[in-house]
Parts: sequence; structure tokens; C-alpha cells
Amino acid sequence: MSENVNLPNPSKILQVGMGYWGSKTLLTAVGLELFTLLGNQQLHGNEIKKELDLHDRSLYDFLDALVALGFLERSTGIRDNAVYQNTPETSLFLDKNSETYIGGILEMSNTRLFRFWNGLEKGLKTGEPQNEVKFGDKPVFETLYATEESTREFIDAMAGIQMANFMTLAKTFDFSPYTTHCDLGGSGAHLSMTLSRHQPHLRSVSFDLPAVTPIAQSNIDKAGLSEQVTVASGDFFNDQIPRADIITMGNILHDWNLEEKKNLIAKVCKALNEKGCLIVIENVIDDERRNNAFGLLMSLNMLIETPGGFDYSAQDFDTWARECGFIHTKKIPLTGPSSALIAYKS
Ligand SMILES: C[S@@+](CC[C@H](N)C(=O)[O-])C[C@H]1O[C@@H](n2cnc3c(N)ncnc32)[C@H](O)[C@@H]1O
Repeated sequence: MSENVNLPNPSKILQVGMGYWGSKTLLTAVGLELFTLLGNQQLHGNEIKKELDLHDRSLYDFLDALVALGFLERSTGIRDNAVYQNTPETSLFLDKNSETYIGGILEMSNTRLFRFWNGLEKGLKTGEPQNEVKFGDKPVFETLYATEESTREFIDAMAGIQMANFMTLAKTFDFSPYTTHCDLGGSGAHLSMTLSRHQPHLRSVSFDLPAVTPIAQSNIDKAGLSEQVTVASGDFFNDQIPRADIITMGNILHDWNLEEKKNLIAKVCKALNEKGCLIVIENVIDDERRNNAFGLLMSLNMLIETPGGFDYSAQDFDTWARECGFIHTKKIPLTGPSSALIAYKS
């Protein structure tokens, strides 16, 4: 073992400090649809250059950086002799033709979040969001849903970051005592569709603002799930929310300030049937607030994106849920930094 192993060393500082180099290289590859172009085939650098309209100068630095970062495989030699292909992960998750594509969140990181995070210092000093709302007077979701393209981009981003969690929840939680489900803020209806595929006895409503209804409905029709899943349009603060045995909220509570969070939890408690439960799916911060770095960074992302939103721990949620009428809560791990928090009404 090296004698220097316990000496302080700057590699972590440099790795995180310069992390945007690797991040922006991956985001650019996703934005260029490099992984979709590669699909299941192998291509030479020159073929990639031609298809993506790239310049000679940094072609092989770009491709080989992706190899070094573990996002491409390369064989037969280097530069003009090399052929490139997807790794098993990029083939599964970053090829747009794959059903398990999760690149929507990376596309949105590239087109929106990357530049808005430049305002982090300002956000920390003012407590104000640093996204499009800074330049307009419309609320955040109205701004995000200004065009069909931006609406779809946001919906795809949400699906990208949550699909693995939805699948894990559908396979691991015992849904057998429940027959009706409502997903509040259901976006493109991905959670409702996933639950219906794995739990065919469930009847599910995906409830969200009218702006997303046509996209959610078209997703359900395409999936052939219209018998099991319906869409309801409304505003969960001002309209009645559907009664159900289970109500889910994926990445909803973190969008709102404390008062708004508690209003929603209390409203859900009233809308649930007697033996019902609320399930929230978020990047739940550990109670000690020192381990789930992604959850803490997501909370900073809520500073960038919303007027009052923040992420929270299981202990925070337990306190709020009990105040709002639930009798106990539990946490179950999902994928990576995400967990489900369940609040039981009886
Ligand atoms: C961060 S996204 C989460 C989407 C999805 N639940 C997920 O887990 O990926 C928040 C969702 O809440 C919806 N939403 C925001 N305000 C709402 C309101 N007042 N009433 C109903 N839905 C709302 C948005 O349209 C969006 O789909």
C-alpha cells in the first residue's frame, strides 16, 4: 500500500469542481443524438462526423472522452482505424428508439438547467428562482407549458428521471389490497401506465393540469391501456381531487413551500378511502442530511426552478403527514437516491 494513502489529496475537489466538463460532454452527445445514431451498430469516426455534422478538429477527443468516461465502446484501433458502439447502458437508456430511454432529463439539463444553474449564487443570495420565471411574470408551470414542444420536453424529462422508480414501486409494493389509484401531477401518465401493466387489477386516474392532458391521453392510447387508465384535468390546489384507495405524488411535494406541501397532504388524506394510503416518490434526503447528495442537490434545483420548493427527509414527511391526519409512515428504497414514503390513513 502506498505511504501517501492517508494524506489529503485534491482529486475529489478537482473531480467535482471540473465535473461539468464530463457532464457537458455527455449532455452534448445526448443532444446530438449520438447514442441513437449508434443504436445497435458500429460506426467509424468519419461516419459519425458526417451524420452529426461535426468538425475534424476535436472529433476523436470527443468520442474518446466518451470512451474514457464509460459511455462508448471502441474497438480495432484508434482514430481513423477505430469503430465505436454503444455500451450496454447507453444502448438501453440513451438510444431514443429504446423503450427504456431516459435521456429526456438529460436533454432538459442540456437545454435549460445547465444555464440556469449559473444563477446559483444569485439564488442563494436572493432566495429567488433562476429559470425562465426570472424574465417573465408567469408561474413556473405556465412558463414550462408555453408551447407544445416545451410541454413535451418537460414531460419526457420527468419520465426519464422517474421511470426506474415507477417500475421498482410497481414490482415491490403490495398493491393487492387496493383497487383504485390516482396519480396527482401524473404528467404523461407514466406512473399510472406502469402500475396498470404490473398490477392489472388497478384502475388508475392520472390527474394533472389541462396543458398535459392531450399528451397523457395520447400516451395511454398508444399503450392500449385506456380501459385501465384515464386522465383527469384540474388544479390540485383549487379543484376536487379524485377519491381513491391509493394516491401517489411523484416529485410533487418538493415543488412547493411548506404551507403548500401541508395543504396538499391534508387534501390527499381527505380524498383517500378509509384504508387508503399516500405514496410519495422523491429523492428523499437522509434524516441526518449528510449522505444523499443527489437529494440535497435536487433541493438546490428546486431553488433554481420554483419560488418556494425544497426537498425533505422521511422524518420531515412523517411530522407533516401526522399533522395532516395520517397515523403512521414508512420509507421504502427505490432506485439510486430515490425512495417512496408511504403514509397510512388507518
Ligand atoms: C415535477 S413534475 C412531476 C411529474 C411526475 N409526477 C413525476 O413523478 O415525474 C410536477 C407535475 O405537477 C403538475 N402540476 C403542477 N401544478 C399543478 C396543479 N396545480 N395541479 C395539478 N398538477 C400540477 C405539473 O404539470 C407536473 O406534471
